[in-house]
Amino acid sequence: MIEVFPDQESLSRATAELFAAEAGRAEAAHGRFAVLLAGGETPRRTYELLAEEPLRHRVPWGRVHIFWGDERCVPPEDPRSNVRMARRALLDRVPVPAGQIHPIAGDLPPRQAAAAYEAALRAFFGPELPRFDLVLLGLGADGHTASLFPCSLALDERERWTAVTQRANEEIKRITVTAPLLNRAALVVFLVTGAEKAAVLQEVLESSPEPHRHPAQLVKPVHGAVRWLVDRAAARLLRPGL
Ligand code: 6PG
Repeated sequence: MIEVFPDQESLSRATAELFAAEAGRAEAAHGRFAVLLAGGETPRRTYELLAEEPLRHRVPWGRVHIFWGDERCVPPEDPRSNVRMARRALLDRVPVPAGQIHPIAGDLPPRQAAAAYEAALRAFFGPELPRFDLVLLGLGADGHTASLFPCSLALDERERWTAVTQRANEEIKRITVTAPLLNRAALVVFLVTGAEKAAVLQEVLESSPEPHRHPAQLVKPVHGAVRWLVDRAAARLLRPGL
């Protein structure tokens, strides 16, 4: 399902509303809301809106459990950190109990960080593959999502829930969740804005599946839904009525 919004602000507002609605639904259904946050720039405004009225009081923050889809292997205060972005935009401004926030430790050696994060996931969800109520994902101009980059070995990972990856021409490593975990989600929402994403969005949505070239095409929840929330600039090349 693809929804096109006039601009980033209206998309962010709709995403924040969706987050609040899903949080309420999950809490009513099973007493908690487990969400996987996206990194990068696109979700920042959504997070800010969730920290402000009227949505701030609509979300049952005491029942919310926060995880991340990926993190850059940088210290917590590094401006590139996805955890830092979400803390400043949202988590430092709402009453989620500290023990319900599960950051990826970007300052640990990468393999240790991946192992520690998988242990945190297992501690919370148990031995079964985690089923998140909501997964937020972005889309990179190269077709990546989370930190699952084109031609990465992590794309074929079917056992582990986390992996160490590295973006081409980027000196730092990254920690990412793997496709099996994403595909257990109840609902995956991709957030895509800006003209620079128009070409890749068209390829991901309209070209034949080539997940090693476009890792976002790996995301097909087995018992869940995928929704694409895109702005008009990013949707520019999509077939009408797609
Ligand atoms: C990251 C994200 C990554 C991001 C896309 C889009 O750590 O960078 O997990 O997958 O969602 O690269 O990034 P923008 O939202 O900044 O365009």
